[in-house]
Amino acid sequence: MAARAATNSRAGSSAERPGNSAPAQAAGIELRGVARRFVNPAGVAFTALRNFTLTVKPGEFCAIVGPTGCGKSTTLGMVSGLDRPSAGTLTVGGRVVDGVTPGTGFVFQSDALMPWKSVVNNVMMGPVFAGVGKREAGARARDWLRRVGLSGFEDHYPHQLSGGMRKRVSLAAALITEPSVLLMDEPFGALDVQTKAIMSNELLTLWEQSRPTVMFITHDLEEAIALADKVVVVTASPGTVKATYSVDLPRPRGAVQEIRFGDRFRDLHHQIWESLREEVERAYARTAASAASREEQP
Ligand SMILES: Nc1ncnc2c1ncn2[C@@H]1O[C@H](COP(=O)(O)OP(=O)(O)O)[C@@H](O)[C@H]1O
Ligand SMILES: [Mg+2]
Repeated sequence: MAARAATNSRAGSSAERPGNSAPAQAAGIELRGVARRFVNPAGVAFTALRNFTLTVKPGEFCAIVGPTGCGKSTTLGMVSGLDRPSAGTLTVGGRVVDGVTPGTGFVFQSDALMPWKSVVNNVMMGPVFAGVGKREAGARARDWLRRVGLSGFEDHYPHQLSGGMRKRVSLAAALITEPSVLLMDEPFGALDVQTKAIMSNELLTLWEQSRPTVMFITHDLEEAIALADKVVVVTASPGTVKATYSVDLPRPRGAVQEIRFGDRFRDLHHQIWESLREEVERAYARTAASAASREEQP
């Protein structure tokens, strides 16, 4: 294992890799004119996404922001292969997605941990499902728990951990498979502000070690700018890409709590917020109007 770690380590980086897994090959994501329509139980069609076109380059960190209900989670579901576009094309790593996308890690807002399994058993599930022996999978899981700062908690159960610690377990469980694509759906949305800042810093450090392609959904524009290479604004429903902003802040970014005070950060925030605000207001006005019309009904 030590020899492996040595052969896998990269010049100029501390990217020591756990176990004997191969380095991740980041895969690009391409959506071309993608639409997603749903039919409700009454048979009425509803368009959640329309003409959605977006390229995320291999190894790029892309944040997606947009009002609630604009189709962000739907987009991630399709990239993961759990859902299908109604129209348009979607490729990951140059291949049309037609089943669960291989090499994908997923982190949700809720911790998708199994409450009856210990922390180490939760983290080792990915490798075990991939056919890695239990002993080796356990060793890798312990190594990942060390990387996310949870040494000593291996045998705890999820309910014995704080929200931030559970989030670290989820991150370790997603990263242990060395994904080429990491899909994150408001992963830190339920954390308090300080824990969220700490987790954002840790995510960046981990991402910089293996550089998977990331699609990161958030409703927090500061978080999006602090983390991402580009920020995509999605319109109010039906969602389509309104604008894409390249975040030219240097990397490594440093503490996310501090970079937001820089001039360039504030410029970007101002520009992107102008674009996002219109969509948030439009979505809000619609929700308010439909609530009012419900109240008027006898
Ligand atoms: N399986 C589904 N069936 C019907 N409607 C759905 C389904 N999934 C999502 N939707 C609808 O599609 C829209 C977009 O949902 P979603 O992608 O979850 O939005 P976001 O993540 O941006 O808040 C919403 O109006 C939602 O109700
Ligand atoms: Mg969502």
